[in-house]
Amino acid sequence: MFDKIRIIVRKIKLYPLKILVRRSQVRDVIKKDMDRWVRMTDNSRSDYSVFEKLYWLIYAENIEEFRNLLYYRIGSPAGFLERFLLNLSRTLIKPVDTLLISSKSIGPGLIIKHGYGTVIDAEKIGDNCLVFQDVVVGFKNEADDRPTIGNYVHISVGSKVLGNITIGDHAVIAANSVVTKNMPPNSLAVGIPARIIKDAGNKAEYVASGEILA
Ligand SMILES: CC(C)(COP(=O)(O)OP(=O)(O)OC[C@H]1O[C@@H](n2cnc3c(N)ncnc32)[C@H](O)[C@@H]1OP(=O)(O)O)[C@@H](O)C(=O)NCCC(=O)NCCS
Repeated sequence: MFDKIRIIVRKIKLYPLKILVRRSQVRDVIKKDMDRWVRMTDNSRSDYSVFEKLYWLIYAENIEEFRNLLYYRIGSPAGFLERFLLNLSRTLIKPVDTLLISSKSIGPGLIIKHGYGTVIDAEKIGDNCLVFQDVVVGFKNEADDRPTIGNYVHISVGSKVLGNITIGDHAVIAANSVVTKNMPPNSLAVGIPARIIKDAGNKAEYVASGEILA
């Protein structure tokens, strides 16, 4: 009985977000995000409806980082109703305070693991990237001096990617590296300052799929 009441209350709390997702101009991107997050947490739930996936990620799995990504996608809606629903949602379902996402554009499927103390402020991020805790992707000197990140890039725990640089598709940035120079596709960067020491092969795609670092 108590469980049923709890589920009903949660669904009511989720309702404003459901409307915002349905009305969002980027709902297809949001759906792709959800598909990837669900695939990563429990592949057997992939045939859930959009609302069921939302419930699964926010309540059953309680993935706080996903909330931040969702609010980033929703952005700052122009309409009064949307703004009201967004404020209500952010009160009912709080984002993580220490995870900042403010990039100009981010492709679908971004996964953020343990996203505490993480800032994602890129010029552009491609599809299906993976970012860990204590990462900074951001400016080096000027506010618009920000990286462009490719697809399937893996940014490991503690690393910093700074300045107007380009990180190629499938690049892997090792834990605690500081990257301030371009990285070609499929490369691996390690250390401070980061040096490119080998071809990362398909490591990024494999790791970024989420299956081995869940
Ligand atoms: C990027 C990563 C996958 C590379 O691992 P790998 O392919 O097994 O690399 P290797 O162990 O073959 O190391 C290759 C070289 O890079 C060095 N290296 C690897 N990671 C390094 C790091 N973070 N900093 C400095 N050097 C590093 C190794 O010492 C080795 O040097 P050598 O060629 O001189 O012997 C790994 O370092 C990493 O960062 N993993 C992700 C960690 C993470 O985010 N975990 C989440 C925890 S919540």
